[in-house]
Amino acid sequence: MAEHIFIGVAWPYANGSLHLGHIAGAYLPADIFARYHRLKGNRVLMVSGSDQHGTPITLRAEQEGKTPQEIVSHYHNEFLDCWNKLGISWDLFTTTGTENHTRVVHDIFLKLLDKGYIYKSTMPQAYCPSCRRFLPDRYVEGTCPYCRSPQARGDQCDECGRTMNPADLLDMRCRLCSTTPRWEVSEHFFFRLSAFEDRLKLWVQTQAHWRQNVLNFTLGMLEGGLKDRAITRDIDWGVTVPQPGFELKRIYVWFEAVIGYLSASKEWAQKHGDPTAWENFWKGGARGYYFIGKDNIPFHTLIWPAMLMGYDDLNLPYDVPANEFLTIEGKKLSTSRNWAVWVPDYLQRYDPDPLRYLLSVNMPENGDTDFSWREFLRRNNDELVATYGNLAHRVLTFTQRYFSSAVPDPGELDGQSQELVSRARMTLEEMDRLLARCHFKEAIKTAMSLAQEVNRYLDDKSPWKQVKESKQESATAIYTALTALSALKTALYPFLPFSSSRLHRFLGFAGNIEATGWRLQMPQPGKELPPPEPLFRKLDESIIEEESKRLGTAEPKWA
Ligand code: MF3
Ligand code: ZN
Repeated sequence: MAEHIFIGVAWPYANGSLHLGHIAGAYLPADIFARYHRLKGNRVLMVSGSDQHGTPITLRAEQEGKTPQEIVSHYHNEFLDCWNKLGISWDLFTTTGTENHTRVVHDIFLKLLDKGYIYKSTMPQAYCPSCRRFLPDRYVEGTCPYCRSPQARGDQCDECGRTMNPADLLDMRCRLCSTTPRWEVSEHFFFRLSAFEDRLKLWVQTQAHWRQNVLNFTLGMLEGGLKDRAITRDIDWGVTVPQPGFELKRIYVWFEAVIGYLSASKEWAQKHGDPTAWENFWKGGARGYYFIGKDNIPFHTLIWPAMLMGYDDLNLPYDVPANEFLTIEGKKLSTSRNWAVWVPDYLQRYDPDPLRYLLSVNMPENGDTDFSWREFLRRNNDELVATYGNLAHRVLTFTQRYFSSAVPDPGELDGQSQELVSRARMTLEEMDRLLARCHFKEAIKTAMSLAQEVNRYLDDKSPWKQVKESKQESATAIYTALTALSALKTALYPFLPFSSSRLHRFLGFAGNIEATGWRLQMPQPGKELPPPEPLFRKLDESIIEEESKRLGTAEPKWA
């Protein structure tokens, strides 16, 4: 029976372009997972959207002399274009600026308020006397009380990943002018996170299938005890607070952004013509997977689950396969120093599949990994082109030339050929197990080792020589190779959707590749094949220097 798989992916702040860290951290693994499950015949709902509120947006707008709305509209459109070109196959990519989102946020807020999980209290808030304004968390900087990094922000420390309140910072200062802020009392709503501590502990302890880093980080935070958190702010950009007296305040961006997973599911259902269809992905046996970077772990393993526990009987996350970070040419990615590879730039110059390939084989699944242009070139030329693309092209052009562009009749398969076919089937089975558990790196390596095996098989069989002595033996070898290629177009589809869809057609198959299932689709003897074209392009060495020059020097996309 088809499973229901909900895939929620971190909502990118619409305050700057996407870079490779975003893609390797969350969007690519989510898309691989979605495409795999669709091939399996499961029902998938993959959603996210632009995170358009909060101080990351207002800070940026202030720097640019634009309105927050201008900023978020610009980047939202850019995101949509990138998803399209990169093949990130959303069921819905919306924004937190919709009326629907506000409605769902208000519903959750009021229900939690009603149940006593949200309460009103006062808190001293940082106020900068020289800027004469309340300072949102991100406008306060200081020393992290946990790891002593001097660059921690009032919402989170990027160094150790801990979330915090500005009051936790040692020696805080205003981010805009470095003045030491003073505390002024302001009335706010608080989420009673402490009330969920025991339930969260019991729940987290049973999540043995989570990645070790996610589990350890979460247990560590639980060890330290969970404090209630203010969920409104003195700011005028964001979701309104549905309570009198709070007209000048807004809901804290993190509290409402995570609700986007639910509001986007409801929006999708409405657009889908069945307003209750979202329930299939949030209730009963459906499983929810949340793809995020490691800096977002606590919001997805503790805060969002606590909100769900308090709200209703909706499913808690089943898995939160957070990735570690991607470094660029050996150095930590930095948007302000333009030490980043921007997705719109990449897509202007190269095809999507080579990037998807490199970031898959080199995914920061269990630790940080590095992107370098030399590695990009090598993986493209020596692996994608040489091992896989040339293999497909050789076999297809040979079919065209010696078998009048039709799938040859295999006759009886000899032992070696039978072995390759069963190896192809085993590859799909093995990858099935790996992909179901979000082991993407191992999965793509398994596929590539099948491609190597097919190359060895063809070296052995040399159908190019055989064809003169025994046309039938050559036909058997080519048919077997076409069969293995068919396994590869399926196995690699989640990773390399563009080239897999093309290979699907070159092998004589019709229709949408996603409808063909996670199985070995056998080529049909006698079937006429369209003229083949190369799957990938070899890249020139010169790109290494060309691209290195751009790093850290060109105009930053945003600072
Ligand atoms: N906008 C946040 C970031 O880029 C991520 C939000 S994920 C969500 O770090 F779940 F809260 F939406
Ligand atoms: Zn200031």
